[in-house]
Amino acid sequence: MVTFTINGKVVESHASEDTPLLWVIRDEIGLKGTKFGCGIAMCGACTVHLDGQATRSCVLPIGAIAGKNITTIEGLNNEHPLQKAWVEEQVPQCGYCQSGQIMQAATLLAANPSPSDEEIVSHMNGNYCRCMAYKRIKTAIQRAADESQSVVNIFDPNAQDA
Ligand code: FES
Ligand code: FES
Repeated sequence: MVTFTINGKVVESHASEDTPLLWVIRDEIGLKGTKFGCGIAMCGACTVHLDGQATRSCVLPIGAIAGKNITTIEGLNNEHPLQKAWVEEQVPQCGYCQSGQIMQAATLLAANPSPSDEEIVSHMNGNYCRCMAYKRIKTAIQRAADESQSVVNIFDPNAQDA
């Protein structure tokens, strides 16, 4: 049994310790916002936060997260500035990659609330979108950054995980 916190709630998983976190999130806990894409840490669709850091949950064994804090897209409660910017910029096409994109972007803005174009591209480089929404993704990240400049600690990962 592995005990960890997800979106502020303590949970116990009875999956074997080598089970990828992604399966536990989707099939045991029932949170379906985190997606399976490649299963080999190459696409970013399964990105969640592990103690505030973007992590590929498809290759993270559940045994490695005992006592840790996991945040999924559901943990942002549709209140994160990125989610609002995503709606305003109408970013998604099919939508499949989008929770991973937002979770990846959230760690950028937590560490760097005013990133340059180059910093956005570099940070988001490993998150693939087969609908090619990259331009809108970048615009939405810039918008969220611009609109959050006056809000202190809005991107603090601890605040998001609370
Ligand atoms: S499903 Fe995890 S990186 Fe592709
Ligand atoms: S919106 Fe379809 S894969 Fe990104």
